[in-house]
Amino acid sequence: MRYLIFTDVHGNLESLHALLKFAQRRKIDHYLFLGDLVGYGASPNETIQKITALKPISMVRGNHDKAVCGLDSVRTFNPIAALAIFWTKQHILKKNSNYLSRIKKGPLIVNKNITICHGAPFDEDYYIFGEFDASEAFLHIKTPLCFFGHTHFPFIYKEKDRTVEGTFLTGDNNEVKIEKGTRYLINPGSVGQPRDRNPKASCAIYDTKAQKVKFYRLEYNIEEAQEKILRENLPPTLSERLAAGI
Ligand SMILES: [Fe+2]
Repeated sequence: MRYLIFTDVHGNLESLHALLKFAQRRKIDHYLFLGDLVGYGASPNETIQKITALKPISMVRGNHDKAVCGLDSVRTFNPIAALAIFWTKQHILKKNSNYLSRIKKGPLIVNKNITICHGAPFDEDYYIFGEFDASEAFLHIKTPLCFFGHTHFPFIYKEKDRTVEGTFLTGDNNEVKIEKGTRYLINPGSVGQPRDRNPKASCAIYDTKAQKVKFYRLEYNIEEAQEKILRENLPPTLSERLAAGI
């Protein structure tokens, strides 16, 4: 069984195109999406439309999804993110806003081995940054594997014998062997707005037969995504950051 794990697309259709093209060549059995379909990028409707065609998929909502469909306010958002939420609210079709409002709140137990969440298993909006946060998160997970998003950094935390160790996954190719007796909290990085100074779209594949999680970085048409952002008069910084991967 091969799972494609991806998160934080943020209305960036061009990065999603690259991901779907990549997935077509990989015999994916099940998609796991960890939240934030919209916010920041200029293609919220097209992004949602593409996701609805992916089957089978298990997914949870992100904080931007909640804010756009009116389930949450922008109180906790920085001014630039809040501006993008207002723009998205103005441009999203009613049926797509309804779709966002129906996405489940994490954590979601996919099966006896896998849990997915947006921020953390104890709070969907919490950012797991570091081993202390990860230790707390492990207390709330009942499966050996938990995939999370929200930070936009590809990262893995392992827990063995009550010791938690985190590793930031730099570079374009990383692979992690899943071992019995160890638990894992894994962030595949962001598709539509990577922040680890690597602008390529990020995702991971979990192969249950090989018991490996492989991480991938995909080239995409960044210029096109940037132009759309500027054309729509979204804050220019949202365009600039895509090329820098920040
Ligand atoms: Fe996000």
